[in-house]
Amino acid sequence: MCGIIGAISYRNIVDILLDGLRRLEYRGYDSSGLAIVDIHGQVMCLRRLGGVQNLSDAVENTILSGTIGIAHTRWATHGKPAEINAHPHTSSDISIVHNGIIENYQSIYKQLRECGYICSSETDTEVVAHLVDWEGKQGGSFLEVVQRVLPRLRGTYGMVILDRRMPDRLIAARSGSPLVIGCSIGENFIGSDPIALLPITRRLIYLEEGDIAQITASSIMIFDRCGNSVQRSEILSNIRHDSVNKGVYHHYMQKEIYEQSTVIKKRLQGCLKNNKVDFSELGSKNEILLKNLKHIQIVACGTSYNAGMVARYWFESLIQVPCDVEIASEFRYRQPVVRHNSFLITLSQSGETADTLAALRLSKTMRYLGSLAICNVPGSSLVRESDLVLMTQAGPEIGVASTKSFTTQLTILLMLLAKISYLKGMKPDIERNIVEALKVLPYRIDQMLLKNDFMADLAKDFINKENALFLGRGTQYPIAMEGALKLKEISYIHAEAYAAGELKHGPLALIDDNMPVIVVAPDNDLLEKIKSNIEEVRARGGSLYIFTNAQFCVLNIENMHIISIPYVEAIITPIAYIVPLQLLSYHIALLKGNNVDQPRNLAKSVTVE
Ligand code: F6R
Repeated sequence: MCGIIGAISYRNIVDILLDGLRRLEYRGYDSSGLAIVDIHGQVMCLRRLGGVQNLSDAVENTILSGTIGIAHTRWATHGKPAEINAHPHTSSDISIVHNGIIENYQSIYKQLRECGYICSSETDTEVVAHLVDWEGKQGGSFLEVVQRVLPRLRGTYGMVILDRRMPDRLIAARSGSPLVIGCSIGENFIGSDPIALLPITRRLIYLEEGDIAQITASSIMIFDRCGNSVQRSEILSNIRHDSVNKGVYHHYMQKEIYEQSTVIKKRLQGCLKNNKVDFSELGSKNEILLKNLKHIQIVACGTSYNAGMVARYWFESLIQVPCDVEIASEFRYRQPVVRHNSFLITLSQSGETADTLAALRLSKTMRYLGSLAICNVPGSSLVRESDLVLMTQAGPEIGVASTKSFTTQLTILLMLLAKISYLKGMKPDIERNIVEALKVLPYRIDQMLLKNDFMADLAKDFINKENALFLGRGTQYPIAMEGALKLKEISYIHAEAYAAGELKHGPLALIDDNMPVIVVAPDNDLLEKIKSNIEEVRARGGSLYIFTNAQFCVLNIENMHIISIPYVEAIITPIAYIVPLQLLSYHIALLKGNNVDQPRNLAKSVTVE
């Protein structure tokens, strides 16, 4: 949420900052801005409401050049989206870009007002700029000043600070919001996400919680929260910088939907060996944790939570391991009771979701056997702080609506289940059946993608709708949830999902001829049950859209549309059935003229509470 890039170099860094912002735009697109020190030693600060293109246009109309600067793309927390609230915020010679929330900014501002400081914006960040300025007047080096300011801040921050009088250095600080340094020769960079830095360098240093870094063009000094000088290891990123291009697709979401079979195939190739699941990346010592677990607690948010919901059905029905799934923001404040020999699994695309991270940290104070993160972003906080890690390896997901991260999470969860069954000495059939089904999964997804044109056509039925209901049973109930989430977030159609059996306990009252009801109904042992629910809707005049591979005796009669879905092996149906629903939402949003990749009010990676 929000994106930061900073640069210090021997060359003009304006284009580097703008390019970095474009690459970070998926993290927030309410406004953007940059501040550089120009050749005359003056700070030039430009800020614009809206996407990065607006800032870029403004830069084109200005003569702007400098070798040090900071830039930001914003997702509004404190203060509405407006130019005045855009970052960088300045106070005299100090400019600052900030991700996160400073909770005690009002009390700090009260004190600063007595010293004559007046904020011109509604943001918490401007208060920090004034505080740094005030503290600087009390003396000390730039670094020492920031080191004195940080303990006064309550909340979360990833921030980069520029002092016009010190145009040879940037100070960066991390607490609760990630920052990564990009190292190069004669120039260094800092960003909130490696994606911003990849075209310029792949040599990365992740800051740890509480770290402060002083970055010059030729040196990087890092101090921990106690002020001790520390070394943080440099890694070489293997993310290709062109993996964040749209390629032949119109939207990132479209590209990411289409990539699903390829990324899953690649991940399976690395893990399925001799018809068994090889998770050697976990380390053999750690397998004992999986062998001993008696209960699984999954914690996640949004789409990742929906993946956890599918896994719950799998763990309990296939290997009889009790499993609970909870939304991270509830888990962290609920004082949950830890079950005997319980193992915590966090699911997250970004690995930076504030609530999921807080839940993981909380779990360390509780009696869990250990924690496993299933995550897509290497080097993310969740990955670095979990005992065990399984990477989804889906490649960067830029579209705000999660797609490939969902199906890759499910693929990993299914392999994990097979692994646990093996470690626990369960019937070899379990692992064998899962492996057999997974082998054909990429092909099944490709078959689902062939439904694209059909979904584009079907989308026309929905453009004037204001509501939609999604129904499913068993593992398809979470798929209905995920289908509804996709629809609401990019098409702005209010959508709710229900376990189909719940229909008569309330939602049936909503059914009329203006209510589309999407039913996820593969041919399985729950089909007859869901057919009864379909009749309940039909009897009340609702328009039904039934995604199924089963034969329905009534075909395409008015208000009953059978969307014929190819056969899929039972275990992997949830993974395959979400694909046509993703495509349907994509096409509805497209027809409505919405910004598919950057839906209103949302941003990728929710790093604030
Ligand atoms: C929905 C979506 C969000 C995320 C949620 C968790 O399409 O993208 O609901 O799933 O914010 O994010 P991660 O998986 O990064 O923890």
